[in-house]
Amino acid sequence: MAGVKEHIRVQLILPSPDYESSYREYIQELGDEERYPFPLDFDCTDFSGLLAKLENFKNGVDLPEGFVPASTYWLVDDGKILGVSNLRLHLNDRIRHAGGHIGLGIRPSSRGNGLGSVLMTLTIEKAIEYGILEIHVHCHKHNEPSARMIKANGGRLESEINDGGEVVQRYVVNAP
Ligand SMILES: CC(C)(COP(=O)(O)OP(=O)(O)OC[C@H]1O[C@@H](n2cnc3c(N)ncnc32)[C@H](O)[C@@H]1OP(=O)(O)O)[C@@H](O)C(=O)NCCC(=O)NCCS
Repeated sequence: MAGVKEHIRVQLILPSPDYESSYREYIQELGDEERYPFPLDFDCTDFSGLLAKLENFKNGVDLPEGFVPASTYWLVDDGKILGVSNLRLHLNDRIRHAGGHIGLGIRPSSRGNGLGSVLMTLTIEKAIEYGILEIHVHCHKHNEPSARMIKANGGRLESEINDGGEVVQRYVVNAP
């Protein structure tokens, strides 16, 4: 996979108070862009409140209606958050239809260097640790970097659907 060797130092971690300033910079860098994965939309004014909410989400505590437990990970290097992923621990009808197990994004200034593919690889490893052996990953058809990143991780296109006027590609990655 392109770029993995250069990113040998990056690590996937659970959200931590040590990264508060980097997280705030990340949010600022995203500006008005649509945020992936969805926990980047959570209010972070109270950072420890944000960490508690992410922990609750992982443990299935106080989930909003229609949501399943989901673990958020940060891709970090040298004290800086470079990407964020979210692993849904099981599917419900809504995300089986469109959404899948994994959502992720890379910090705008760090895109196009292979990090998206690395973040997906590391998040798939977490899925396997959770015993998810058939990992559903979806993306908008027009999002070429995302589709390529999924294919680079062994994603097999299963179907394309129309979801609210957008074509969603549904891929499956099978654990080795
Ligand atoms: C999608 C995203 C995570 C990809 O991360 P990235 O670090 O830029 O991606 P990578 O550098 O690992 O590249 C992945 C593949 O896309 C290709 N790619 C990267 N930028 C591209 C571009 N602008 N146009 C076309 N292909 C592109 C790469 O060549 C690579 O393909 P290859 O493995 O066949 O060589 C990143 O663009 C992002 O955060 N986008 C906004 C959020 C988002 O769309 N998330 C996905 C929601 S499903």
